[in-house]
Amino acid sequence: MIKPHGSETLNPLYVEDDAKRAELLKEAEGLPSIVISSAAAGNAVMLGSGYFNPLTGFMNKADALSVAENMHMADGFFWPTPVLNMVKDAGAIKDARRIALLDPNVEGNPVIAIQDVEAIEEYTDDEMAMMTEKIFRTSDMEHPGVNAFNTVGRIGISGPIQVLNYSYFATDFPETFRTAMQIREEIQKLGWQTVVAFQTRNPMHRAHEGLVKMAMEAVNADGAVIHMLLGKLKKGDIPADVRDAAIRKMVELYFEPNTALITGYGFDMLYAGPREAVLHAVFRQNMGCTHLIVGRDHAGVGDYYGPFDAQTIFDDITKDDLLIDIFRGDHTAYSKKLGKVIMMGSVTDHTKDDWVILSGTKVRAMLAAGEDLPPEFARPEVAKILMDYYQSEAAKAE
Ligand code: ADX
Repeated sequence: MIKPHGSETLNPLYVEDDAKRAELLKEAEGLPSIVISSAAAGNAVMLGSGYFNPLTGFMNKADALSVAENMHMADGFFWPTPVLNMVKDAGAIKDARRIALLDPNVEGNPVIAIQDVEAIEEYTDDEMAMMTEKIFRTSDMEHPGVNAFNTVGRIGISGPIQVLNYSYFATDFPETFRTAMQIREEIQKLGWQTVVAFQTRNPMHRAHEGLVKMAMEAVNADGAVIHMLLGKLKKGDIPADVRDAAIRKMVELYFEPNTALITGYGFDMLYAGPREAVLHAVFRQNMGCTHLIVGRDHAGVGDYYGPFDAQTIFDDITKDDLLIDIFRGDHTAYSKKLGKVIMMGSVTDHTKDDWVILSGTKVRAMLAAGEDLPPEFARPEVAKILMDYYQSEAAKAE
């Protein structure tokens, strides 16, 4: 099986042992504490669930700046994006060596992790600007990822953590939230050798379904792990529970039995396009997949990235840095001429009218107006789940 990133076996930071966890929770009651950002809580969940192997906690400034600059930590280890615990005010934990991190996303702000404080460092304007530009390729505050990154504070608390729970992900999505350890075990159990991972934050339309099937065929995969983001999204994106239901229906009806696992991970979307694609590759390697599908405008938003920038970033990444392979998908769409979803670049005799292509904006407008999505675009059973959601939202708004 493919090795985790940077180590022979996974070293997740979640404290598995019940007695030890109870002991740490008790200890946390007496520690100085701080409510962390949603982004930091997502990092803690990813660290806890083995996806961010082999990191041991939150990065210090030297590592964060180096990672932002050139995707390597200060000691040369490959990592695509800073993993930070940034706060606005560290007054409550000043001089503390060990602190309790409180979850902003769960009622009552329970302890999510305990951190050993290595350093508390303030980032300058120039450092924030450099990191922003390098990670997001823009500093436009209209970009949702840039905005989130620049509004959580600029005081970084670095150091190792012990993770005590998986926030709301394990409780809200018990059927879907999986750790990297669980996915590795499942792949092992199924005996899959070649496994493609599919990143998604959307309900899967026919273009997505076609892309996964084409990737599986191209690499002769034993199976696919559909791995959806369960954390925070920008306004207008479909909530995780609706997406989850739509994807389950699509796989149940349109995939060969036992060829796809439906899973999810607890992290907020960065919308960092190319850099996020590389992060995606790292954590799909950690969960035991041999390939990650990167299609058109992967992890993008608006017009900030070229449609294939998230593929070309991998041109300069070698096997010394990352073992997982990337399946580069062309723009997929339904061809009316051929009656199926294909890669658009695979034919030369099609004109604009031969394709069924709908923008996200158009899809949302149609659903909001109660107009059925064409069956060439979305499977009818998937379209119905989306329509029910949009109509119930519209009813609530009245
Ligand atoms: S993402 O932000 O998680 O990347 P989305 O869920 O829409 O967004 O996409 C999931 C994956 O499918 C990404 O790899 C993306 O590039 C790919 N993808 C989505 N739609 C298409 C399409 N029409 N053609 C090719 N690839 C696509």
